[in-house]
Amino acid sequence: MIDINLDTIDCSGEPPVREPERQYYYMAKCREIVRKKTEELGRPLTASIRTFGCQMNAKDSEKLCGILKQLGYREVDEHYETPDFVLYNTCTVRENANLKVYGHLGYLKKQKGRHPEMLIALCGCMMQEKDVVEKITTSYRFVDIIFGTHNIFKLAELLYDRFTGKTTVTEIWEDTDQIVEELPAERKYTFKSGVNIMFGCNNFCSYCIVPYVRGRERSRKPEDILQEIRALVADGVVEIMLLGQNVNSYGKNLEEEITFAGLLQRVEQIEGLKRIRFMTSHPKDLSDELIQVMKESKKICRQLHLPLQSGSSRILKIMNRQYDKEQYIRLAKRIQQEIPDIALTTDIIVGFPGETEEDFLETLDVVRQVRFDSAYTFIYSKRTGTPAAKMEDQVPQEVIKDRFDRLLAEIQGISSELTGRDTGKIMEVLVEEENSQDETLVTGRLSNNIVVHFKGDKSLIGRMVKVHLDESKGFYYMGTMTESMDAE
Ligand code: 5AD
Ligand code: SF4
Repeated sequence: MIDINLDTIDCSGEPPVREPERQYYYMAKCREIVRKKTEELGRPLTASIRTFGCQMNAKDSEKLCGILKQLGYREVDEHYETPDFVLYNTCTVRENANLKVYGHLGYLKKQKGRHPEMLIALCGCMMQEKDVVEKITTSYRFVDIIFGTHNIFKLAELLYDRFTGKTTVTEIWEDTDQIVEELPAERKYTFKSGVNIMFGCNNFCSYCIVPYVRGRERSRKPEDILQEIRALVADGVVEIMLLGQNVNSYGKNLEEEITFAGLLQRVEQIEGLKRIRFMTSHPKDLSDELIQVMKESKKICRQLHLPLQSGSSRILKIMNRQYDKEQYIRLAKRIQQEIPDIALTTDIIVGFPGETEEDFLETLDVVRQVRFDSAYTFIYSKRTGTPAAKMEDQVPQEVIKDRFDRLLAEIQGISSELTGRDTGKIMEVLVEEENSQDETLVTGRLSNNIVVHFKGDKSLIGRMVKVHLDESKGFYYMGTMTESMDAE
């Protein structure tokens, strides 16, 4: 991992202009302040980060946590202890995500009433929306720091501004073409990690707010990605998840000519790395080259997340997805034919404006034809600023509810049938954790991401083992370990 020695940073003069040197300077400055406060209080300063939303946010939170650790904060669980610094990394993909944050803010206000020294910061996707920031700065004035998605690397600098006098520090960038490398990160798991390969999205699906809050697509240079993965592997990581809103368009803005499939081939060669996952794939950009690379790979997991969103060609057009029902089915079937043990998963939205019963039946038809291993189903949520928000014909809630239930029943039936298909086989499992309900068991995942529970102890965590899949329980297996395969 990035090993920054803040003791060697000279922070007596002016701050450097260049990044990441500027942030190292502010980290060193803040660390001094944190050290003084620690002495005054006679205990370490504590911090907690709460993450809402997707894997991208989870990864951002690891970076934020890495910075806070460098400053000398000790991470605590907000549920058990009132932290000195609380940071919420927010999501805004659906209205519900926003409501959750406002709910939590009400609770934080009370906490701060009892602990006036407490600092509260909000960052992430929700903060990229002007009306949200306006609402927070007028109605939630106890919030100390507000920043967005493009400048999370500036946490130390913003905190320094707050420490040195400013009441509320607000800094939101509209967009950026900057990717700041070489910042610390604190991993949640020792053996697996997300790795950003690109940021932002250029697709502008008509319901989606992501392109507005995450900005335009920017790919990281392959060498930076490979270097990060090599360092992770040297640090004990065996599984990585390559992250991007649309990984299939990786490389489009880079000088070096490289495709996502090409990047995967280079990642595959990293010795010691055992598993590669990635998300998310947009069907319109999924290449034959990628299917071939996946097929031949020993490390790319047998799992592909391929959001459908709707099975109706008419709705897909209005959604601006740039494929139709037949194209999606053809693609999914080709993948299943080429890689028969692949688990296909998807996202589906129910109740997009103007969705009729016929449109919905088309979605059900795709679900039956493709037979997804699992699917995330969402009720359409109107996001201000997106084209779909202005569309008439919003579908009544009771109609949506009925469709949602029918869709879920269909998906769950197929999913439990498919999960059982490997019963009786011996398969590789990466052990992830002790079982939360039964401490004689550990829990791991198959290459296709299905969970397996079996007898074992926590010394197995992070190791690849072979497990006999004794019995399918619908969405997971119970198994018996046959051998450990670390030497391989
Ligand atoms: N309403 C409901 N679901 C949405 N998603 C994105 N925007 C919306 C919205 N406005 C879903 C899509 C996407 C997933 C991450 O969230 O299915 O694939
Ligand atoms: Fe949103 Fe579409 Fe971009 Fe996915 S591809 S983040 S759904 S705009």
